[in-house]
Amino acid sequence: MIMPEVTGMRSLVRLLLTSFVFLSSVDNGNAGITSTFIRSEWPSIDIPLDNEAFLVPKGHNAPQQVHITQGDYDGKAVIISWVTDDEPGPSKVQYGTSEKRYDFSVEGTMTNYTFYKYKSGYIHSCLVDGLEYDTKYYYKIGSGDSSREFWFQTPPKIDPDAPYKFGIIGDLGQTYNSLSTLEHYINSGGQAVLFVGDLSYSDRYQYNDVGVRWDTWGRFIERSAAYQPWIWAAGNHEIEYMPYMGEVIPFKSYLHRYTTPHVASKSSSPLWYAIRRASAHIIVLSSYSSFVKYTPQWMWLKEELKRVDREKTPWLIVLMHVPIYNSNEAHFMEGESMRAVFESWFIHYKVDVVFAGHVHAYERSYRISNIHYNVSSGDPFPRPDKSAPVYITVGDGGNQEGLAGKFRYPQPEYSAFREASYGHSTLEIKNRTHALYHWNRNDDGKKVPTDSFILHNQYWASNLRRRKLKKHFLRSSVGWTATY
Ligand SMILES: *[C@@H]1O[C@H](CO)[C@@H](O)[C@H](O)[C@H]1NC(C)=O
Ligand SMILES: *[C@@H]1O[C@H](CO)[C@@H](O)[C@H](O)[C@H]1NC(C)=O
Ligand SMILES: *[C@@H]1O[C@H](CO)[C@@H](O)[C@H](O)[C@H]1NC(C)=O
Ligand SMILES: [Fe+2]
Repeated sequence: MIMPEVTGMRSLVRLLLTSFVFLSSVDNGNAGITSTFIRSEWPSIDIPLDNEAFLVPKGHNAPQQVHITQGDYDGKAVIISWVTDDEPGPSKVQYGTSEKRYDFSVEGTMTNYTFYKYKSGYIHSCLVDGLEYDTKYYYKIGSGDSSREFWFQTPPKIDPDAPYKFGIIGDLGQTYNSLSTLEHYINSGGQAVLFVGDLSYSDRYQYNDVGVRWDTWGRFIERSAAYQPWIWAAGNHEIEYMPYMGEVIPFKSYLHRYTTPHVASKSSSPLWYAIRRASAHIIVLSSYSSFVKYTPQWMWLKEELKRVDREKTPWLIVLMHVPIYNSNEAHFMEGESMRAVFESWFIHYKVDVVFAGHVHAYERSYRISNIHYNVSSGDPFPRPDKSAPVYITVGDGGNQEGLAGKFRYPQPEYSAFREASYGHSTLEIKNRTHALYHWNRNDDGKKVPTDSFILHNQYWASNLRRRKLKKHFLRSSVGWTATY
């Protein structure tokens, strides 16, 4: 007798949560939500090696683990990467704008590495540049019977009103939950992935299995990553400092396998860089590289922020692995060192949103900052700040470490919504002022947003309001009252 009532209550609570989250506003001191959703339990175990999710393509030396990323600053180039196992083979990409007609070809480079006694396959990487915007390209790699064909769509040209839909995925791993996340994302219609670190979780293995699990992960994500760019940020699971087997070079596997276009944004390291895509300027930071004052990452970010032109790319998005605001027991305050160094810049430049992973749960903040606090004086608590970004943690991709189910109580005032479930997010930019944000938990089927809101652009929303005010001398009561 109790069951239907409980279920009824739960869906009512869920309905209320959804509408509340949608309507709630940043600076009115609303208490945040800790979702009561109970997800169905799935074991957090890695998919076995012989599973079809990791299928090796047929044929001698067939290209596998195919993935692409943006290849330049503005979106007119891609870097195509793949692995061949039997022999080096060509690093050539043939491409063109109609299927089966490859009018162009370009040569890339090949690298390989060892990890303990594991020898990697031949890792090819090829820059395809000088592309047209907003165009579908077909490409072919490999040779003879075992060659393979894929396609991708270039983004619209840099324009303040260019619409674009990004997916945000973090801490993915290679479990059945990871597969569910990936399938949900593919159904979302996202055009490019912003990946916030912790890719394969291969470092959970030992000796030769580390390399083996990087290979399975490459084959696992190919279903999406061969067809649209994944923008990479590195996490702690990429460090792979494993002295007991003689492996002490940080990020060795990651850097060999996942190329980034860091030179195009004048960065000296592939671990931090920036790209512009459609109407967004995306800054990728490395939580596990030095970032304090005077270090290369700090100096680079200082200059990169000056290059941001909100008249051309209104949306300023920052990616990092470790969240700066996180109220989970897991990794609590690990982002504090980066907050102390970079938060005031995020406020000054009015970053729209900061995406992070690391914590295996979902959490979204209100617009708050803690820049008034310092070790001698000042308010030691975060407070509402209209110039602050929204901080979103999406470390809920579904890796083998499982969920971070213990949130801290009471829920801090900066925390707007939090839930320990697997899922992914999308950010659908409509124009210079509006973007729709969704978080989808995997348990809810295809297209149900569990947490959603309208993100108002930090630069243009207030600019337009100012212009409007000037014109009418009166504040309009409509249009600018929604969530962010
Ligand atoms: C890379 O491949 C070449 C050619 O097969 C081989 O001679 C070399 O030993 C490999 N290097 C590493 C580090 O595995
Ligand atoms: C420390 O905080 C106080 C109070 O907000 C402020 O007056 C002071 O300038 C801050 N000092 C530094 C070095 O930021
Ligand atoms: C931007 O898109 C939103 C949502 O689709 C719409 O309501 C708004 O009028 C648009 N603004 C501009 C400046 O086009
Ligand atoms: Fe992590």
